[in-house]
Amino acid sequence: MEQKDQIRTNEIKDMTETQRQLFYIEKAAMYVQGLKEELGRRPTCCVTTFGCQMNARDSEKLAGILEKAGYLLIDEEDADFVIYNTCTVRDNANQRVYGRLGHLNSLKKKMPHKKIALCGCMMQEPSVIEKIRKSYGFVDLIFGTHNIYKFAELLVKMFESDGMVIDIWEDTDKIVEDLPVERKYPFKSGINIMFGCNNFCSYCIVPYVRGRERSRIPKDIIREIKALVADGVVEVMLLGQNVNSYGKNLEEPMTFAQLLREVENIEGLKRIRFMTSHPKDLSDELIQVMKESKKICRHLHLPLQSGSTRILQAMNRRYTKEQYLALAEKIRQEIPDIAITTDIIVGFPGEMPCDVDETIDVIKKVKYDNAFTFIYSKRTGTPAAAMEKQVPEAVVKEGFDRVLKVVQDTAREQVSRLLGQTLEALVEEVNEHDDRLLTGRLSNNTIVHFEGEKSLIGQIVPVHLKECRGFYYFGEMTI
Ligand code: SAH
Ligand code: SF4
Ligand code: F3S
Repeated sequence: MEQKDQIRTNEIKDMTETQRQLFYIEKAAMYVQGLKEELGRRPTCCVTTFGCQMNARDSEKLAGILEKAGYLLIDEEDADFVIYNTCTVRDNANQRVYGRLGHLNSLKKKMPHKKIALCGCMMQEPSVIEKIRKSYGFVDLIFGTHNIYKFAELLVKMFESDGMVIDIWEDTDKIVEDLPVERKYPFKSGINIMFGCNNFCSYCIVPYVRGRERSRIPKDIIREIKALVADGVVEVMLLGQNVNSYGKNLEEPMTFAQLLREVENIEGLKRIRFMTSHPKDLSDELIQVMKESKKICRHLHLPLQSGSTRILQAMNRRYTKEQYLALAEKIRQEIPDIAITTDIIVGFPGEMPCDVDETIDVIKKVKYDNAFTFIYSKRTGTPAAAMEKQVPEAVVKEGFDRVLKVVQDTAREQVSRLLGQTLEALVEEVNEHDDRLLTGRLSNNTIVHFEGEKSLIGQIVPVHLKECRGFYYFGEMTI
């Protein structure tokens, strides 16, 4: 090692983790600069996200580091560096990754300098790593969810190594603040308020791949939101697998409702959303804060999973059908204009048609504005995977179709109840199919399309809801 390098190595030992990573970004930038000279143009990169909002936010952090290192962010996978941020919540998420990796390999054959990286939840599974090592040898870098903050350091390692670099940690208690982020939208942003999950619902792999629950300290969250607002953000979505248990493990414990009160006070911030609420931990204090708030959106995602108490018990959800119904009723009473959405699983081991009837009963009673309905997917290592009485595919399909039909009918009816009203919409983008139209989102999360200038993107405007088309509206701006 040269003397200069030795000095730097000693220096970085004394740095904070954030400083270390900023140092590695600079180092990665030298390699990207070298590549630029070789290619005669700025090297490009593409970040592809699978999975939930939490992964989407992680991808913004990956993009922030890549951009700082000198890459030009593009959406096409013929980029010089491609990273897949993977999800493993259901098997189809995994299959999509394997399918697309084949395509990446053929692209790489045409451009040998191309680098391919994989990260995210799927990489926390040892069987996946084995498979990639064996059958996808062209991958250059693999890391997991716990060491994502080390991305810059791992990039450098990748540039300095010939073979596949693999770095997976089993868990971490670290939260690293203040690394660069490149937001997808200038006017709205996700904010992690906690990481991991302690609930161990018996079907779910998330606690195994995301580790134990850790809350960020409120000061850091507020500071991040203030900086975002100063940078043009008007809507934030507070993210966690179970936001209702936020703050329980902090040195100075704090409830989620208390955190919301502090976020509400941030000047310039217009809208607050959050994801996800576990029904077992949803407090009266939270309902009260939502009710009194001017900024918290009129939308609550409250995953049901099943309407059958027997199945809920086997799922380890820790509430009964009656408790869930009573909670939904209370929320509707206190906040009448709220939209409630949910997640439902059909085909959990031991589920019978009469259990599906119970789920349908809850859908009809709660009247969801939307429900994401999933077919149960067996995840190796979870308690449900070892349960007897896995449900035959044909029975699952029949139950799934029945649930979907009721979900669609109720949602259509629920969404249409706003017809004729004039409500505020945050303008998000130009309509995908018709560029004379803008697409906005109401406080209750319903989408509305209306005529308007592109320059309105990021603003909140009043829109008269003229025509309901099932799950969305056509409207007219009233300014
Ligand atoms: N933390 C959130 C959910 C995260 S996963 C919560 O508890 O609400 C998102 C959704 O995926 C879950 O709500 C569940 O409906 C679904 N899901 C999770 N594991 C699944 C599995 N093994 N099969 C099918 N759907 C699953
Ligand atoms: Fe999975 Fe349950 Fe945790 Fe949600 S709360 S991430 S469903 S274990
Ligand atoms: Fe998927 Fe991981 Fe989110 S498994 S749903 S990306 S936490």
